Amino acid sequence: MLARGIGLLTAAVERGYALGAFTTYNLEVTQGIIAAAERLGKPVIVQAGAGAFSYAGRGPLAAMSLAMAASSRVAVGIHLDHSRNLEEIASCIELGYSSVMIDGSFLPIEANIAITRAAVDLAHGSGVWAEGELGAIGGDENVSVGANPESTMTDPAMVRTFVEETGVDALAVAVGNVHGISTPVEIDLARLSAIHRECTVPLVLHGASGLPDEVIRTVVGLGVAKINLNTELRRAFFEGLRDGLKGAEADSFDAVMRPARDAVEQIVESKLRLLWPDMHPAD
Ligand code: 13P
Repeated sequence: MLARGIGLLTAAVERGYALGAFTTYNLEVTQGIIAAAERLGKPVIVQAGAGAFSYAGRGPLAAMSLAMAASSRVAVGIHLDHSRNLEEIASCIELGYSSVMIDGSFLPIEANIAITRAAVDLAHGSGVWAEGELGAIGGDENVSVGANPESTMTDPAMVRTFVEETGVDALAVAVGNVHGISTPVEIDLARLSAIHRECTVPLVLHGASGLPDEVIRTVVGLGVAKINLNTELRRAFFEGLRDGLKGAEADSFDAVMRPARDAVEQIVESKLRLLWPDMHPAD
């Protein structure tokens, strides 16, 4: 079913797990994400942003994702990732998205607060929850490597004011995390703890591709209630696709596309298992 309202997020906080938020670009990736969540019987977030919209089209991608969420056996949130403009946010709310992210991290702090406040007002007016970003997460969310990994760390001293003045429901933080898989990444756990102490809303960790399993498990205990993954899914999809194309029967969708879809399902399942304390692989 499509998850409406903020219940998906509050349940994660109350029960001590993090929601996996996985980026989709097409039907097969969405199928892989939802199949993994159904197999584990866990809720999930399917997200998309500008990169996916320019490939698939904003409306068609929304229609497909929302239809798949509606017919799913688990709760599925449909989330707008990293939007920099209010028109796009209004359009996705209109299309039926259940949550949105306004990324004002490229702006000076006062302007970030102002655009985030405006996005939150739009979202809340339609029963949609909103994520903001404080500090700036490095890298490009649609590119695997080498995409300007510079970031500005989130300042714990700014967190309370930002959350109060914007009204955000969740806060994306920059604590050494980078979009894509580039250089070895060090998550500043002391900074994350300090942010958690100051923050009255759940935290979001972007750029989780390439992070060691142990780090992902650790951040879930430090206030992170949503974890974003993209690159590892894209890579799995394309590897699966290459395998499918190598096969002797590479002339049917089942032969070519199913391995790609299955590869996404496998990676999503392995990540979801890290996010629930009751599902760790060693348990
Ligand atoms: P990765 O590509 O590093 O998984 O990051 C995804 C992300 O944070 C999307 O917002």
